[in-house]
Amino acid sequence: MSSVERYEVNIDRRKLLTGATGVMGAIGATFVAVPFVGYWQPSEKVKAAGAPVDVNISKMQLGQMLTIAWRGKPVWIIRRTPEMLSMLNELKEELRDFESESSAQPKFAKNKFRSFKPEYLVVIGVCTHLGCAPLYRPSVNSADMAKNWKGGVLLPMSWFIF
Ligand code: FES
Repeated sequence: MSSVERYEVNIDRRKLLTGATGVMGAIGATFVAVPFVGYWQPSEKVKAAGAPVDVNISKMQLGQMLTIAWRGKPVWIIRRTPEMLSMLNELKEELRDFESESSAQPKFAKNKFRSFKPEYLVVIGVCTHLGCAPLYRPSVNSADMAKNWKGGVLLPMSWFIF
């Protein structure tokens, strides 16, 4: 004679174990997801590298250039002299986009000075052609420049004025 044992299913216990397993799974998933999602956020170092930079320009002399680092690039701040600014008008016919109408400028810099305040020019000091380091030569007829140099920035393959 064989005996078949019959177990009675305890539905309440089954529901309790299912619920407890679900809760433990959700807690485990949260512990995994929180640091994982945290890695998607930029680090403090990265945030600082792209943050705005404050520069004290109150003591800049006319014609002086400051170089600061921003996002790993040199940024030039040039305090232009009245002569530098008037030179723009003299060279109007030689400039490709005199009023900055077709160049990618912020709205406040879409003007012939490419600047919010004409006296101050702020540019990234890297050539857009192939990334050479331009040379700042503000003096008219600089000794190491060609004759009739009007002052400006020299690029190995071209030049631009202030
Ligand atoms: S990279 Fe500067 S002129 Fe070509």
